[in-house]
Amino acid sequence: MTKFNFSKRVPADGTDAVGVILKAAADPKIISFAGGLPAPELFPVKAMKEAVDQVFAERGQEVMQYGAAKGVTALRELVLQRVKEKENVTGQLDNVLMTTGSEQALDLVGKAFVNPGDTVLVEQPTYLCALDVFKSYGANFVGVEMDEAGMKMDALEEALKAHPEAKLVYTVPNFQNPTGRTMALKRREKLAELAAKYDVYVLEDNPYGEIRFKGQHVPAVKSFDKTGHVFYMGTFSKTLAPGFRLGWVVADEAVVNKLTVLKQSADLHTDNLAQYAVVEFLKHNDLDAHVKQISDLYGQRKALMTEGLEKYFPQGVKYTDPEGGMFLWVEVPGVEDTVELFKQCLEHNVAFVPGDPFYAGEPQPGAFRLNYSNAQEDQIKAGMKQLGEALQDEGEN
Ligand SMILES: Cc1ncc(COP(=O)(O)O)c(C=O)c1O
Repeated sequence: MTKFNFSKRVPADGTDAVGVILKAAADPKIISFAGGLPAPELFPVKAMKEAVDQVFAERGQEVMQYGAAKGVTALRELVLQRVKEKENVTGQLDNVLMTTGSEQALDLVGKAFVNPGDTVLVEQPTYLCALDVFKSYGANFVGVEMDEAGMKMDALEEALKAHPEAKLVYTVPNFQNPTGRTMALKRREKLAELAAKYDVYVLEDNPYGEIRFKGQHVPAVKSFDKTGHVFYMGTFSKTLAPGFRLGWVVADEAVVNKLTVLKQSADLHTDNLAQYAVVEFLKHNDLDAHVKQISDLYGQRKALMTEGLEKYFPQGVKYTDPEGGMFLWVEVPGVEDTVELFKQCLEHNVAFVPGDPFYAGEPQPGAFRLNYSNAQEDQIKAGMKQLGEALQDEGEN
């Protein structure tokens, strides 16, 4: 058998702990709060089919031909309009690049800015795929403490002083994956200010911001950026459908141009059909009304999950209270090993994602992530009861 000599970028065997967890959770008898999928029953299948048919009728050859690396102009214009209206993020066409999901934007920014050994500052905990991306480019991580109002700016400033070489700060300011927390307005202003002061770039990843079911909208960090230090990322994955793989970056033109060159060597351009189909869809459908439906449903599911937490979980359990998005974060005092707890929960036919992989540094013991967007109401009720029983068992051991 050949032993393949992979590059250092490739993760070692046995390090995909989350893959193993999601596989275990995929067993049909298990109620899974582990994944991070949107509710498929709200995908606008019929309207999107009509849009695709129309696109093929009007420009079949064009969509089947190679396209522009930066993306379809009409869609980039619509994205600009939307980020201005929703996030107060302004820019010109040359500031927008369409990407193959926002996951690709993460990868391109990692490739463009992170040299081996460069310091990347991340929320503690943070989106684990972002950790994987930056790790593949050789990043050294420094975790920055969070509280209910997001990344703490005093902790960030201390970290920036201690690591003047830091290159990038990565944040998910709205309904963060994994905690569901949202960064307070003042902290956003401060973050843009610190980025300029310490000459560090901020990668603002906002896949969930529009999915708000409670409270007031908070404008993007990018909207406070006067110097171009903030790179903003968005996606249609949570507002329309993740399968289309449509994301974007809004950043300084010089940054967009470099990301475009790197994108060309990754996949030449983003899928033409998906881009034109969304342009067509947006001509005939009210995306705001659609997003409201999604937000309302997730709000109901989140409320059910919280009810279950109150009813079935042991005393002293702490959990976040997201005003939107798809996740909440639970901390169970006294539990040291959440991976072990995960195994016990599987025996009770219920699953979550243990907290450890979301930490760049020392994990918080007893923490785990629950997803509420992709479970039916009866599953949430039953699953929370089963989870509560598993936790009671754990407490008695
Ligand atoms: C914080 C965060 N960033 C990026 C992504 C990737 O999303 P996309 O489908 O746009 O690639 C996700 C997906 O769940 C996410 O949670």
